[in-house]
Amino acid sequence: MRTDYCGLIGRKHLGTDVKLYGWVHRRRDHGGVIFIDLRDREGIVQIVCDPDRPQTFATAEMLRNEFVVEVHGRVRERPQGTVNPGLPSGEIEVLAQHVEILNAAATPPFQLDDEHLSETVRLEHRVVDLRRPLMQRNLRLRYRVAMATRHFLDRHGFIDIETPMLTRSTPEGARDYLVPSRVHPGMFYALPQSPQLFKQMLMVAGFDRYYQIVKCFRDEDLRADRQPEFTQIDIETSFLDQNEIMALMEELMREVFRVAAGVELPQPFPRLAYREAMALYGSDKPDLRVPLQLTELTDAVRGVDFKVFRDAAELPDGRVAALRVPQGAGLTRKEIDELTEYVRIYGAKGLAYVKVNTVDSGAAGLQSPILKFLPEPVITTILERTGAAAGDLIFFGADRAKVVNEALGALRTKIGHERGLAQPGWRPLWVVDFPMFEWNDEENRWDAMHHPFTAPADGHDELLASDPRKAMAKAHDMVLNGWEIGGGSIRIHRQDIQQKVFRALGIDAGEAQAKFGFLLDALQYGAPPHGGIAFGLDRIVALLAGAESIRDIIAFPKTQRATCLLTQAPNRVDERQLRELHIRSRVPDAQAR
Ligand code: AMO
Ligand code: AMP
Repeated sequence: MRTDYCGLIGRKHLGTDVKLYGWVHRRRDHGGVIFIDLRDREGIVQIVCDPDRPQTFATAEMLRNEFVVEVHGRVRERPQGTVNPGLPSGEIEVLAQHVEILNAAATPPFQLDDEHLSETVRLEHRVVDLRRPLMQRNLRLRYRVAMATRHFLDRHGFIDIETPMLTRSTPEGARDYLVPSRVHPGMFYALPQSPQLFKQMLMVAGFDRYYQIVKCFRDEDLRADRQPEFTQIDIETSFLDQNEIMALMEELMREVFRVAAGVELPQPFPRLAYREAMALYGSDKPDLRVPLQLTELTDAVRGVDFKVFRDAAELPDGRVAALRVPQGAGLTRKEIDELTEYVRIYGAKGLAYVKVNTVDSGAAGLQSPILKFLPEPVITTILERTGAAAGDLIFFGADRAKVVNEALGALRTKIGHERGLAQPGWRPLWVVDFPMFEWNDEENRWDAMHHPFTAPADGHDELLASDPRKAMAKAHDMVLNGWEIGGGSIRIHRQDIQQKVFRALGIDAGEAQAKFGFLLDALQYGAPPHGGIAFGLDRIVALLAGAESIRDIIAFPKTQRATCLLTQAPNRVDERQLRELHIRSRVPDAQAR
C-alpha cells in the first residue's frame, strides 16, 4: 500500500521515507539527473533519480509518459532556486531509492496539459482525458455536490427510494427512449423522462419526504446544457405549501454550494413572476448578472408609419420592445450586421437600431435608418422609457412576442457578456406564477407549461375549462446565472382537478384512463397535498466548475448527436437479437451508417 498520495506530500514529510504509486506526467533528463513528475489523483510530486543508484537510474531512463510506476524514496527540500510555487508539493522532492515499472503505456493520443484539445479527440480517448487534473477536479466536485445534497436531505428526514427505469412514458415534453419487450411481442417500455408519477405515488403511499439522485432519459435536441441521459436531484414532500417547499429547497442549495464549493449564495433568493421575467428579460431563465433590461414599446408605436413596428403592435400576440446598450453607439455597421444575423437564429426578421448622439434635441440628436418613420412624440417616449444617454445604442425587436423575447433575450445576454457589462458572482432567483398552459401552434392545442400534474393557482380551477389562457399554476423554477437549475410545483392531489387538466390538454377520459389510470386510481385513495422539485445535477456542477458544457462534468457523456464516441453507442445489433424482440429494422443494412 502507498504511504501517501503524490499530490499531498509537503514540508511535513521532510526526511521521511515514502512509497508512492502513480503515472509519469513528464520525464526530464538534466544531464546526469532524471526528474520525473509523478501524478496521481491528488496531484504531482517531483521524483529525482540520481546516477549513484545505477539500477533506479536505468529504470528511470526507460520511463515514458503515462507509464505506471511504484517509487520508494526520501522526501527532501528542493535546492534553493528550484522551488516551484505553482505546485502544492513545490518546495519538496523525493529522492528515489527504488523505481519499478508496473505497466508501460503506449504514447498517449495527446499531451495531458495540451489546452487546445478537440472535444472529439477527448471523448474518443475519454480514459486519458479523465486523467487530466481538470477532469479529476470536476468529477470530485460532482461527488461533493451529490454528497452535500444527501447529507442535507437525510438530516431533513428525506429518504432515498428507487423507482423503475423500465416503465411507461411520463409526459415531460420530450420524446421517449423505448425498450422493446421480448416477453410481450410488439410492446415497449419507456425509460423515464423523470420519476414524476412514481414520486407522487410515493406521497400517496405515505412516505412524506422522498428524494433520489436519479438518471432521466429524454430524446430531445441536445445543447451545451442538455444530455439525452442526465441526472436529477428529485424531491417530493407532503403537507408543505409552495412557500415552505421553496424555502427548504433554497436552504438545500445554499448548503450544497457552501459545502461543496465554498460559494455563498444570497438569502433569500429574489422571486420574479413569469410575466415580469418575460417583460424585462425576454426569458424565463434570466441571467441577472447582466444588468440590461428590455423596454416595452408595443403601446407606444401603434399606428406609426414604420410598418415593421405597426404590424407587430397590431398582432394579438405581438410585441415591440427595445434593448438599450449603454455606450453602444460605437458599434460598427459590421458588428450590427453580425448581431442582426445572430438574432435571425431566433426567428427575428431584422434588428432595427437607433444611435443616440445627444438626448435633448429629439430626432436631430439620433442616427438611424428608421427615424423618418417615427413621429417626434414616439421618439421622445422611446428615449424616456429606455433611459437613453448620449453614446448609447438602442436595438428594437418587433414581431410575435415569442420571437421578440427569444431574440432580444438572447441578444441581451450576448451583448452583456461580450461588452463586459455582466457582474461577477452568483445570481440565483425563483421564477414563479407561471401560466398553466402554453399554446402549441403546430398541434393547435394547449400544452402543459410544466407538466400535466401541476396544480392550478388557488381559485383558478374554473378557468381550466372556461379560459385556459388565464389559468395560472403553482409552479416554481430555480434559475442561476441564466441556467434553469431546477423546476417543480405543487401537484394536483384531487382526481376531479386532474381530470379537468387532462381535458384542457385535449386528453379525454378514455385516454386519461388508459395512460394515467394508475395515477388517477392512486388519487382516489386519500392522496395528501404534495409538491416538490427536481434539480439538474449536471447543470449545478457545470456552473460550479465553470464548465461551458455539462459534458465536462459527466464521466462518459454523449455528443450533440447523442453518440458515445468511446464505446461507439448506439450500434447495430444482430438480426437474431432483433428477431427475439419481434423487431424488424426499416433501415437497410447499407444505409445504417
Ligand atoms: P424538468 O423537466 O424541469 O422537471 O427537469 C428538472 C431539471 O432537470 C434539468 N434538465 C436537464 N439537464 C440536462 N439535460 C437535460 N436534457 C435536462 N432536462 C432537464 C434542468 C431542469 O430544471 N418532474 C419534473 C420535476 C418536478 O416537477 O418536480 C421535471 O422533470 O435543470
Ligand atoms: P426594412 O424596412 O426591412 O428595410 O427594415 C428597416 C430596419 O428595420 C432594418 O434595420 C431592419 O433590420 C429592421 N427590421 C426589420 N424587421 C424587423 C423586426 N421584425 N424587428 C426589428 N427590426 C426589424
